[in-house]
Amino acid sequence: DWTMGAYRAETIAKIRAQVGKGRVVCGLSGGVDSSVAAVLIHEAIGDQLTCIYVDHGLMRANESEQVVKTFRDRFNIHLVHRDASDLFLGQLSGVTDPEIKRKTIGRLFIEVFEEEQNKLGGADFLAQGTLYPDVIESVSATGGPSVTIKSHHNVGGLPAGMRMQLIEPLRELFKDEVRVLGRELGIPEEIVGRHPFPGPGLAIRIPGDVTREKADLLRKVDTVFLEEIRNAGLYDAIWQAFAVLLPVRTVGVMGDGRTYDQACALRAVTSTDGMTADVYPFDMAFLSRVSNRIVNEVRGINRVTYDITSKPPGTIEWE
Ligand code: XMP
Repeated sequence: DWTMGAYRAETIAKIRAQVGKGRVVCGLSGGVDSSVAAVLIHEAIGDQLTCIYVDHGLMRANESEQVVKTFRDRFNIHLVHRDASDLFLGQLSGVTDPEIKRKTIGRLFIEVFEEEQNKLGGADFLAQGTLYPDVIESVSATGGPSVTIKSHHNVGGLPAGMRMQLIEPLRELFKDEVRVLGRELGIPEEIVGRHPFPGPGLAIRIPGDVTREKADLLRKVDTVFLEEIRNAGLYDAIWQAFAVLLPVRTVGVMGDGRTYDQACALRAVTSTDGMTADVYPFDMAFLSRVSNRIVNEVRGINRVTYDITSKPPGTIEWE
């Protein structure tokens, strides 16, 4: 009979056999898949593994610190944390087209990853957190729709160093199984139970030009929204929840004064695979509480809207 404990032991044995005395690099994103892959491989081969975390400066508040703390301090994994936010934000300056944003981020990500990997003196294997649905999807890709809605960038999709062999220890698992394995490996619930987060990060939640100031503002809004969702015990009932910074200023009133500040949108959806999604039906009292907190606590935001579009016809992300 099949248990996750047996899968863990079996996979560790396979990784050891495949890698031998070789060296492995693994791109970490802070997401569930790359985290579980990294910890599992580390358990198999210890310091023969180096993780590379390319920080594009477009993560949620405190996420980069959490990645470093978890993998370096708790699991003792050799981790390169490259703060490349100046590079990414510099190259994104003036870019407003969603596809160009995505492509710019994807390209820089590979560049920086390869640079860090070369600094390490190269590696024999590249580890990826590819899941079973990703395997199916690429097999059936020719039969799928011929229109690319969005060019996806994620850490798992790194075409870096084609000379390296791939290690994909999660290829037989579905997402919920990866979570079970992650818990078994002792990865904190905050990471294992985390909502999906897109590779391009907050850049695709800031329609228009992306700047560090806008990303900072968005992080504050996002933090309040997610805090209220957790406090209300709703986090696990939601597939994804996030804020979008709107490129529009509107008039408001605060105390005796007139304000002319930015508007934001909140988005929360339920889904099973991200292909279709329904709007999460918050009650009005919850939305009012979040709205009041955001306008009172985040200077620069004076209007909050809730996105009530399902997918289709909307997509989950705004870009
Ligand atoms: P959309 O916006 O297409 O998103 O409805 C569907 C799911 O995919 C996530 N997403 C991405 N994930 N790299 C990723 O790793 C990407 O470039 C990317 N774009 C969207 C999105 O957050 C949702 O879960």
